[in-house]
Amino acid sequence: RYDAVIFDLDGVLTDTAHFHFLAWQQLAQSLGIDFDSAFNEQLKGVDRMGSLSRILDLSDKQFSHDDKLKLAELKNRHYQKLIAHMSPDDLLPGAIECLSSLRLAKIKLGLASVSKNALAVLESLEIRHYFDVVVDAALIKHSKPDPEIFLTAAKQLNVSASMCLGVEDSIAGISSIKSAGMTAIGIGSSSVLREADMTIPDLRTLLHYISLN
Ligand code: BG6
Ligand code: MG
Repeated sequence: RYDAVIFDLDGVLTDTAHFHFLAWQQLAQSLGIDFDSAFNEQLKGVDRMGSLSRILDLSDKQFSHDDKLKLAELKNRHYQKLIAHMSPDDLLPGAIECLSSLRLAKIKLGLASVSKNALAVLESLEIRHYFDVVVDAALIKHSKPDPEIFLTAAKQLNVSASMCLGVEDSIAGISSIKSAGMTAIGIGSSSVLREADMTIPDLRTLLHYISLN
């Protein structure tokens, strides 16, 4: 039995991973840079400036630090337009069932998202109250794949890493969970999320793998 389950947000509880992709694509296109969904797998779970650097590396132009800050801000505006009308209807299948069953079973719940928009999304989805801990992305120095965010969640939950299960849809996120010394469940394909201990298609099957008593 696990003492805590620590969830990623974007692409796990709701499909905002797709909105991040669309917003980055919109920004990249305005710069004449092209990237596809396979490249996007490398951006998932990586913070805003880190993702921007990877995209700008595809171009042969040079960008100053000031340019980068403005571009990151512009991407965030594109993204915020896409999430402006989110509601509980945008939760992915199985999300509410998982959160409520885990809480009933007194398993602690944490949220480990590097997104500075995470709290706003949680509130639009009306699920903030399920979580004992929501790590503040602004305080995280090293984005996924560094283990910092999952270790911070475990520490704030007062649970040892080995008793935590992490749930992620990104390559960087699975690495973060594994290097934190936790068990990693991947949402998606095992050919992409190779480091995961197990992969499942969506949250509808998560509870089959967690003993609740
Ligand atoms: C992660 C997403 O959750 O948050 C990334 O997987 C995103 O795609 C990152 O870049 C940072 O998000 P934000 O909202 O702070 O720009
Ligand atoms: Mg994610």
